[in-house]
Amino acid sequence: MDHFSAKVLAWYRDHGRHDLPWQIPDPYARWLAEVMLQQTTVSAVVPYYHRFLSAFPSVQALAQASLDEVLASWSGLGYYARARNLHAAARLLMERHAGVFPRTADEWAALPGIGPSTAAAIVAFAFDVQAAILDANVRRVLSRYHGVAGRDAKTERLLWGHARAHTPADQVAAYTQAIMDLGALVCRKTPDCSACPLADGCSFDGEEAPPRRPPKPERAVYMAVIVEPERGILLVRRPPRGIWGGLWSLPESAALASLPAAVQALGIEGDMGEPHPPLWHVFTHFRLSITPVRVGRVSRGHGVAEGGDAMWYKGGTPGPGMPAPVRRLVNQFLEAS
Ligand code: ADE
Repeated sequence: MDHFSAKVLAWYRDHGRHDLPWQIPDPYARWLAEVMLQQTTVSAVVPYYHRFLSAFPSVQALAQASLDEVLASWSGLGYYARARNLHAAARLLMERHAGVFPRTADEWAALPGIGPSTAAAIVAFAFDVQAAILDANVRRVLSRYHGVAGRDAKTERLLWGHARAHTPADQVAAYTQAIMDLGALVCRKTPDCSACPLADGCSFDGEEAPPRRPPKPERAVYMAVIVEPERGILLVRRPPRGIWGGLWSLPESAALASLPAAVQALGIEGDMGEPHPPLWHVFTHFRLSITPVRVGRVSRGHGVAEGGDAMWYKGGTPGPGMPAPVRRLVNQFLEAS
């Protein structure tokens, strides 16, 4: 084991995280946690992790569930392609691996939604197999320590090389958590170098150009909240691809003027109210404003074909899988109606 890894491991014993709920040697739990943690913080993941595991306690249970059930459990966590891939991967694991979890990173990386770093993290954590990770936290540690910055292919190769060179042959699970924790807790965007076990050999001089982010572009959408006293609010299923693919949402249009046509296309006639104040939802690449418009006094609502891609929703948990801001809107209008 090199100095770097020894120091990181020693730091981890006293300062790292040891009580995260997924710190158990169970490949299913580790896989689920790593996928949830890809784009979501630890504190946001914890309640979802517990709920998802009790709904789908094994890869068998996950493979047998419908995509709708899986999306419903994921609802609110965001980046729903993760849930679709998780479900598809569970089915592949059952079909191709008879439900036996592979022990190499390459086999995991062949499954949908699992990149090389996630694959390595899963086998390192679950089986203590020597495999190098390079997620955003580890990338920050290694690029500062070794003084390599950039996003080009050469930098990428260099960083992976450093990641592999530092990954020890044993205590791999502990080392993997340790280097992640160092990035998350000490070598943060604004680093606390005085608390860092690697400060001695580190190339970082505090002179890193702060990443200047251009403001996110804005997009707008108008959503019809079609309310029928007896049946609730009309939900429509979104197409399988694109944002919120496969989730249940409200009928929408990109312009307020075209919302009535979107409503009529569903066989609905009713009174369109005034637009309500918009709600904002932030995605990785843009900010979305959602302006709800209530449609009441529905006269032809019974013409809607239920089943398939439309349903009336009256509230109650857990309900179908809806994007978090849509769920919030729907609940607000249900409470008010
Ligand atoms: N982020 C990604 N994987 C993680 C893990 N295992 N623990 C904490 N944060 C993480």
